[in-house]
Formats: sequence, structure tokens, C-alpha cells
Amino acid sequence: MNVADSEVVRTLLRGDGLREAESAASADVVLLNTCAIREKAEQKVWTRLRDLRGRKGKEGQTVAVLGCMAERVKDDLFRDGLADVVVGPDAYRKLPAMLRDREQSIDVTLDRSENYADVLPTRVEHTAHGAFVSIQRGCDNACSYCIVPYVRGRERSRSVQTILDEVASLYDSGVREITLLGQNVNSYHDATTESLKQQPREYSTGFVPFVKSDKKDSQTGVRFAELLERCAAAAPDARLRFTSPHPKDFPDDVLETIARTPNIAKQIHMPAQSGSDQMLRRMRRGYTCEAYRSLIQRARAVIPDVALSSDFIAGFCGESHEDHLRTLRLIEDVRYDMAFLFAYSSREKTPAARRLEDDVPSDIKKKRLQELIDAFRTGREARSRERVGRIHLILVEGAPRRDRGADLVSGRDDGNRVHVFPSSLPDGTELLPGDFAHVLVDRAEGATLIGVALRRAAGAGDRPLVDAETGAEFFIDEQTGASRWASEPPLVAAASSARPPVATRAFSTRATAGDAIEEILTAATPSAVLGIPKDATGRDARDAFLTASRLVHPDICADARAGAAFAALVEAYDAFAPSDVKYDISQAEFQGDALTTAAWMWDDAAAAARRHKARHTLDDDGSTGRSVM
Ligand code: 5AD
Ligand code: SF4
Repeated sequence: MNVADSEVVRTLLRGDGLREAESAASADVVLLNTCAIREKAEQKVWTRLRDLRGRKGKEGQTVAVLGCMAERVKDDLFRDGLADVVVGPDAYRKLPAMLRDREQSIDVTLDRSENYADVLPTRVEHTAHGAFVSIQRGCDNACSYCIVPYVRGRERSRSVQTILDEVASLYDSGVREITLLGQNVNSYHDATTESLKQQPREYSTGFVPFVKSDKKDSQTGVRFAELLERCAAAAPDARLRFTSPHPKDFPDDVLETIARTPNIAKQIHMPAQSGSDQMLRRMRRGYTCEAYRSLIQRARAVIPDVALSSDFIAGFCGESHEDHLRTLRLIEDVRYDMAFLFAYSSREKTPAARRLEDDVPSDIKKKRLQELIDAFRTGREARSRERVGRIHLILVEGAPRRDRGADLVSGRDDGNRVHVFPSSLPDGTELLPGDFAHVLVDRAEGATLIGVALRRAAGAGDRPLVDAETGAEFFIDEQTGASRWASEPPLVAAASSARPPVATRAFSTRATAGDAIEEILTAATPSAVLGIPKDATGRDARDAFLTASRLVHPDICADARAGAAFAALVEAYDAFAPSDVKYDISQAEFQGDALTTAAWMWDDAAAAARRHKARHTLDDDGSTGRSVM
């Protein structure tokens, strides 16, 4: 939200002849766009202001404080001469004149009609392929902990046409991912524009409109689902996202629109805040945990494979251990792809600050927050592992970086998960930022997915094909016209050969053989390396692999040191793939840097096994090789 606001301010100031300075230290005017949602955010601004007025600022420099903290703290910001100009979120149009006056001045008027619809934001990074478009300002909800309604004012929606114009202009300038922004996007309503649909609005089962207003009861005008669809059509090859909706009045037609529109990301940020009904009531969220869970279920049923994220607050007023456990259970059950977790921070003037007691001690808040973070990470890692062997549509973001023999790029899938893969495609072309590609995931390293790009995609709507029966992804080979499946050995092998740095974190100097073998087996698709198909029956890849290592080192046991385990594994590979690869790694080196060394060994062994694969297939008992060439 603040990024989008800063872009509006940039346009207004440029219009008045101001230009960006090289650095804050050399600028005549420094603007701080602020957040007030938690105390920590405000503390950072106070520190920055003191810095600017101290050694880090320039003599005679004008310092302006903008945004939510300006609105909340008002003229207290003039204290000790820290700020010269204070401007709330609805008064940015006055900013150029206030800066010209060079007088101490403040404008924190909240203006229900201001939505900066006519101000085309100026983006900072011309090379970036993602942009935000603000569709709504303010918030009409009354979540008891939240300062937003007090500092951003009443909810108002921008007109459909100004949004569509901005989306089209971003698209024309090469932007390939657009995120629509608002505090409660699903209550978006432009009553002045005629709907192309005229359908009554329906809420998900278990949900009722929470806040009554004439505007919301009206059935005319354009609602969020329709806006989404029209934006998606205005930027046909770009990926469309939005944030944040509110679970209490989530319309079913939004789910259906996401499901059927190819270039809308299959991802929803669904802020739960708590898993306890008592807390949800105190927070005035307008739904029960059961209704929230059923909305999640419905989202997953309507949009297969949808990525879900959420916000949670730990240690809200009166939160008991049982309430906390309910939140933990919700996080464990849903297994979010992303979550933003906060300790409750009491904000002056909010209903909670006025009527409820902030009675969870700070150390308990921190402990609970850590438990929520741990539960979220466990769920996310499990979900990441489930992505291995699947094909994702990725928007390439980072410029290629040379790393371990390959030019690697990074990008994100629909669920905003980061993928790292070599920039080169099988057709010999290179992927650049702004391109879309189908990427086969080879393995997960924490939250990052490592893989290989299989083909260039035409745009955000060019999705990998999915087999209706099995759910497996595949694509049609452009040259042969044949279907190619993610589990096909050549594709799996391609992913293995494109191996960037191997999973490392599971290994410590105290790692045992059990840890090492387990990690290699899960992280490095040994089936691909040994040429055993993933769906082999009778004897699976894991057994074959373990047998192989035991053949060479029968005394390898679960509590052997990682060094010995690796040595055994390498010898095992050699037994299958006698090769020129030689290792000279001592036990001591493993103690020092088990990870890196193991990664190199694994790569070499994998390469040897691939060479070997051309000459041998594996017998059923997994212990001998047979020449086929
Ligand atoms: N304390 C902690 N977190 C808060 N949030 C909003 N207000 C507070 C507060 N007082 C969190 C909510 C919201 C996100 C943007 O910030 O989880 O969804
Ligand atoms: Fe704050 Fe609730 Fe509005 Fe979100 S919906 S901005 S949490 S009041």
C-alpha cells in the first residue's frame, strides 16, 4: 500500500518540478512515508527522523512525514524540530505547495472523496516487471486491534475505468505482474459504472455481510469479481494478483473467476488472525473459525492447487493457552504457503486499546509467536516438498547469475514461491526477466524450489497442462507433437543435470549416516540418477539405493558419521558407474564443511551415474548392471 502511495506522491512532486536526489544525505527534501500498524513500525520512523536531524541529514533540509503515522501522531512530529511538514494519506495533493512554502505545516484531513483516481503513479524501477495498482482506499471494518480505519479513513473505491487505464498502461510498458491493492478488496464497489453482469451477489456459505451500509446493500455497479475479470482481460499475458480480501464477506464468484481466468494467479491471501472463536469475536472479525475453515475448503475445491497465505496475531487481549493452541492447529491443518505473523501491539484509540486489557505478557507473546512461526514453516516445507516433480508456470525476475557452472535465474510461481533454475532452455534460447516459463521442480531447499526450465510460455495464461485423472502436469512437445510428462526420465534427468547447489542445511558436523542418506534420498531424486523410474514397482528407488551403499559398505549403520556415509554412497555410485571421478575427501573435511563437500560429491556422482545410464540398466535386484549397448 505504501509503495503505491509513494508512486502517487512521486507523480505529484514531479509535476511540480521536483526530481529524485542521489541520496537522502544530498537531498533538499526528504519524505518518509510511514506505517502505524504496529508500534515497531513507528519506532523505526522516530529513529530515522533523529538520524536525519543528526549527523546523517543535510543542513537546511526539509523533512516531511507522510502516511499513517503522520495521521496518527499529527503535530507531535514537530517535537524537537524533527519534522517540518506532516501530511496524512488523503492530503498528498497539498504536498507540493506545502514544500514550496518552506513553513512548518500540517494537513491530516481525511477526505472521503479522495482516491487519487486521476493521478497516474510513477514507478521507481523501470526494469521491474511487477507493479501495484491501488483499487480502493480506507477501510470500513472495525477490527478491534486495528488502527487502519482511523488513519486511512472510510472505504472508497476507485472507478473501474481509471483502474483499467492504469492496468493497460502498465501492461503496455512491459509490466508482467500486476497486484490489485486494497484493505478489503472483496468489498470493492464502483456504483457509478454499469455492470456487464447484473447478477445478485452471493457470499460463501457461513458468511454474512458484517457491516451494513447503503452502498453494500446495492446490487448495481461493478463488484470485485467483475473488476478482476476486466483487469485480466486488459493485461492478457500478465499475471494478476490481489491483496487483501476479508474472509467475512468473501464472494463465491471471486473464487470462480480465479478458477476460470487463466492469467489470474491461483493464490489467495486469506487473513485469519486467530483460530479461536473467542479471539475472533473480540477482534470483531465477523466469522467463526469453522466458517473460515469451510471457506478454505471451498477455495481448495473450486481452485485446485490454490496457494494460500494468511496473517495471524499472537497474544491478543485475553488470549489463553487454549486459544493459542487453536491457532496453532489451524496453521498446522491448513499448511499455508505464506504467512505474516505478528505479536499483538496495542494501538491507541482502537476499540481493543480502549476496552480490552493487553494482558498477555510480552515474553509469552514472543514465545507464542515463535510457535506459530515454527508451525507455519513446518507446513510450508511439507508443501514445498510436494511440489517436487511438478511443472510450474514461472515469471522470471532476477537477472541471470553465474553459479556453479550454470547461469541461474530466479522467479516466482502463482503461489509466490521462489524458484531457482538455469536460464537456458532446451531450444538453446535464454530466459530473461519478464519472460514466463514452465519449470520442472527437481527439489526443495527450505522454501526455495530448485528446477529446470522446460519451455518458454507465451504468458501468464499459458499454463502447464494437467491430466484430469491423475493431476500430473505435462506439455506437448512442439517438435514431435507428443505429450511429455514431468515424471519422464529425460525430464527428470534434465532437472538433475541442471543441478545448482545441493541441499545443505540438513547436514551439520553432528549429522549421522541416517540423516545424510535420508536427506540425499529426499532432496536429490536418486531415482533419476540411478535410472530407476519413479514409479518402479517391486523395488523402489530408495531400496535400490540403500542396497547399493550397503553392498560397498555393509557396516554403514544409522549412527555412522556423515563422512563415512558419504564415502559409502560415493563408492556405491562408483560400483554402478565406474568412472573417472575420484574423491580425496578426508573425514576432517566433512567435519568442517560437510555440506559443500557433499554437494560437490553428489554432483559428480550424479554426472557419473548419468554417463553410466547410457550404457546400463539396473537389474531387478538393484545390485548389478547389465550392458545394453
Ligand atoms: N498488532 C499486531 N498486528 C496487527 N495487525 C494489524 N493491527 C495489528 C496490531 N495492533 C496485523 C494484522 C493485519 C496485518 C496487516 O497486520 O494481522 O492483517
Ligand atoms: Fe484493519 Fe480489519 Fe480493515 Fe484489515 S479489515 S485494515 S485488519 S480494520
